[in-house]
Amino acid sequence: MTGGLRIFPGPRVLFACAAELLVEAAVRAVREAGVFTLVLAGGNTPRGLYELLAEPPCASRIPWRQVRLYWGDERFVPQRHEQSNYRLAAETLLARVPVPADQVHPIPTAEATPEQAALAYEDTLRALAAAQGRSPPRFDLVLLGLGADGHTASLFPGGPECAERERWCVASRAPEGTGVRERITLTLPVLNASRSVLFLVSGAEKRPILQKVLHPAPGQERRYPAQLLRPAGELRWLADFPLD
Ligand code: 6PG
Repeated sequence: MTGGLRIFPGPRVLFACAAELLVEAAVRAVREAGVFTLVLAGGNTPRGLYELLAEPPCASRIPWRQVRLYWGDERFVPQRHEQSNYRLAAETLLARVPVPADQVHPIPTAEATPEQAALAYEDTLRALAAAQGRSPPRFDLVLLGLGADGHTASLFPGGPECAERERWCVASRAPEGTGVRERITLTLPVLNASRSVLFLVSGAEKRPILQKVLHPAPGQERRYPAQLLRPAGELRWLADFPLD
């Protein structure tokens, strides 16, 4: 595992480290290619990071006008819905930094069905792939969270979306009790084509699952979707609690 696991005493320092890694990735990508392609994570954890990115000193260190924003997954709800991953980023980050509107690519949840939303987002990903001359497209940095059941993005344990090797974006269905069930998610072929993947894991309630993901029992090495991330580049985990 390139990059490995770093443990922090609390969320603020975890987000400060994540922000620094993101600034470094953005500056490097813009220097090399004139653009920084970033995949935002959903859920609640990234809120602290997005707020930090929108404030000094981070806000002035990131070349926002060269940033292209994508989402790793989305709940199939309107963008104004409180469970929308787009809404979280819009309120905490997009409203405060100058990313050009045509460089912000939310997953379209106004489509008739999650499957149609996934197909529409694949067209967006194909446009990026064509611009890069790559297939799948290569994101400079993908931010991901970790669910208590080992899911990441909207790739759920035992879900067919985890076995998808052709499509770049599919509809998926969250288990009972995990909020909005209808989801759209990037798939492993796209996520693993990335230059760098950064997991943000905050809250000691995540300790049991992080322990199982990073230190699996024999034969459990690929049980959880979060274990299936093998990016072409770096794979880093940031957590704000110690493991056993
Ligand atoms: C989502 C996320 C999901 C999230 C984990 C952790 O849309 O729900 O993409 O994968 O990262 O469920 O969520 P929390 O950060 O809220 O614990």
